[in-house]
Parts: sequence; structure tokens; C-alpha cells
Amino acid sequence: MNKSPEKIKEMFNQIAKNYDSNNNLISFGLHKYIKKKAIENFEFSGKCLDLCTGTGDIAYLLKNKCDVTGFDFSENMLKIAREKHPDINFIEGDCTNLPFEDNSFDSVAISFGLRNIEDYNKALDEIARVLKPDGIFFHLDFGKKNFLANFIFDYFIPILVKIFYGNDLPYKYLVQSKKLFFNEKELQNLFEKHKFEVLKNKSFLFGTISCQYCKNIK
Ligand SMILES: C[S@@+](CC[C@H](N)C(=O)[O-])C[C@H]1O[C@@H](n2cnc3c(N)ncnc32)[C@H](O)[C@@H]1O
Repeated sequence: MNKSPEKIKEMFNQIAKNYDSNNNLISFGLHKYIKKKAIENFEFSGKCLDLCTGTGDIAYLLKNKCDVTGFDFSENMLKIAREKHPDINFIEGDCTNLPFEDNSFDSVAISFGLRNIEDYNKALDEIARVLKPDGIFFHLDFGKKNFLANFIFDYFIPILVKIFYGNDLPYKYLVQSKKLFFNEKELQNLFEKHKFEVLKNKSFLFGTISCQYCKNIK
């Protein structure tokens, strides 16, 4: 599948205005609750960077715990993030080339983001570079363990999306990218290769969503 940065940026620019309502629809309103629970579960402090921030949901949750900056390359997603959260600093740019100095953040979060990055190895190297030694890397995305949820996602929700939005192409991308993405064990191996020690794995909704809380051991 085509995951060139130009293609991904164009897709998110196009779906930005429906992004939040679409998420509410396909998760039956649960995505906000899961993100809140995930962030509540772990320690974040000092300076935090929320990569692939989109419309800023995770940045908003982190704001209660740390001094957060949101980062994304879609200007339309950022426009909505800035309207929703005028008190948060959002910066436009590419995760594979972060405009920050080495060792400048205490934590870096990425939620439903890494899956969309063609050169994910470069992004992980950049995350390790801007994180302080022992800094926290937090990753959240779909898990692969729940057969029923995967079935609903792959076959039932596309029909809903088509009915509500008339265009299910971005959703088809989501289903396909989810299928091709790493499972939890593969993610752990990948993160370890990039010098992150996985301190904790946590699943939500019986494995539909999973997150990894890691320490930078460079
Ligand atoms: C599915 S959204 C996730 C938004 C938000 N984190 C959430 O949990 O709802 C993925 C976001 O990643 C951004 N993105 C994808 N690849 C990127 C890259 N290489 N650099 C910066 N942002 C990127 C897209 O523009 C989009 O806003």
C-alpha cells in the first residue's frame, strides 16, 4: 500500500474536518475514554511531545500532567487542534525529521500514528534522539488480539462509514494499514532494536487497542 508522506498528508488533510466525528462513529464513542484511561495509567512529567497529534486529543490529556507540544504534518488537522485547544503549542512538521535538539523532551507520545509512517525506523530514531536518556516513549494503536472486534472493524463499520460519509476510501486505508501493522510482540522487538525498554504493555477493550510504555535506554 502507498504510504508515501505526500499521500498520507493529503489523505489526512482531506478527512480532517470529519476526523473527530468519524472516530466517534467507528469506536461507538469509546476512543476518547480509552485514550483518557491510557494516559491516566502512566507517569508523564516535564516536557512532552505528542507526535502525529492530529486534532490534539492526546496533547489535551497530557496537558494536565506536563508541558506539552503537539506535532503533525497535516495543516488541516492542526487547524482543528488549534481551534479546539488554543492554549496548547502545536508545530507543523514531519516526524522523520524533528526540528528539536537532542535530549530535549522527557516524554514522547504517538497514538494511532506510527502505523501511518512509511519510514517508521527513521521516526523511531528521531524519537530516541530528542528524548532524554531514561525518557519515556508511549505508543498506542490498534491491537490484533480481538477476533470479534477485528471482524466488526473489517466488515461492519465500513458500511456505516459509507452511509454516513459517502466515501469509505480513508476507512479502507485504515483497515488495510491495521492488518499490515505489527502485532504486540513484533512492536516490542522493534522498539528494543531502537533502544527502548518496554516497561509495560496494556490492552483495552479485550485487546482491540494496545499501548506500550517504554524507557529510552540509549
Ligand atoms: C490517525 S491520526 C492520529 C491522531 C491522534 N494522535 C489521535 O490519536 O487521534 C494520524 C496523524 O498522523 C499524522 N502523520 C502521519 N504521518 C506523519 C509524519 N510522517 N509526520 C507528522 N505527522 C504525521 C497525520 O497527519 C494524522 O494527523
